[in-house]
Amino acid sequence: MKTSELRNRYLEFFRSRGHTVIPSVSLIPDNDPTTLFTSSGMQPLVPYLLGQVHPEGKRLVNSQKSFRAQDIEEVGDNRHTTFFEMLGNWSLGDYFKREQLPWVFEFLTKEVGLDPKRLYVSVFEGQGSIGKDNESVELWKEIYKTVGMEAKEGERIFAYPARKNWWSRSGEPEKMPPGEPGGPDSEIFFEFPNVQHDPAFGEKCHVNCDCGRFVEIGNSVFMQYKKEADGSLSELSQKNVDFGGGLERLVAATLNEADVFKIDIFAPLVARLESASGKKYGEDTEATRCMRIICDHGRA
Ligand code: ALA
Repeated sequence: MKTSELRNRYLEFFRSRGHTVIPSVSLIPDNDPTTLFTSSGMQPLVPYLLGQVHPEGKRLVNSQKSFRAQDIEEVGDNRHTTFFEMLGNWSLGDYFKREQLPWVFEFLTKEVGLDPKRLYVSVFEGQGSIGKDNESVELWKEIYKTVGMEAKEGERIFAYPARKNWWSRSGEPEKMPPGEPGGPDSEIFFEFPNVQHDPAFGEKCHVNCDCGRFVEIGNSVFMQYKKEADGSLSELSQKNVDFGGGLERLVAATLNEADVFKIDIFAPLVARLESASGKKYGEDTEATRCMRIICDHGRA
């Protein structure tokens, strides 16, 4: 699928489910000194996740241009970029897990046509006073049943600690500054069975392995907590959903293509680099790595 088609289908899918399409804000955040660049769709929405009333309502959707410097050293492999578009949908104290998880699954499998057998999910295993997200485990089992699959924990659904399945802009609860919203999340991974596991990343492959066999394509954050000055977490006045999915990786998944740089939007850049260098993309490992870096940084 072409990038513009996937973006349009995502916006339309959630628009027809009561969401208002909001614009992508500037990559340079407005009135927000916390980061140099907008790094996720939720960033401009923080006041609304904390309870302020959003003028466009409680259900929002967009595709937000985002930049993350933390992955800069990974750029050059087949899937990491610093700049990407994040498909996002938000419930500001409206719907919650029971609506969000089936919608995302429906979008990925019915609207986009991904094979459910290639999709794996993770949930929060619990930490301190916040227990394991058993509700999401049960919901995922129900969801897979609708496509005739029996999803078991440890085979299709995996529980991970806060390091992997808690999301806030600063990471795990311990790292959140006072006032910061966050919560447990449920991530969706797409499997590329042709990618052989690389033991350099650990003995066994798993959904959170960095070898490239499993690629994260979506993350539903159940943003319902706020960090307090005394270090505790309090319940926000509203339960929010903050979903983010990497547009470029999703397009690659629809093409069954593990290399994100082979999607349509990179084609003109790759062609220009091929003609300038006299090298073919994909033939020479180092030249390919350099072309990916130039494509990503140029676009950013
Ligand atoms: N805000 C969440 C993320 O960036 C969706 O992964």
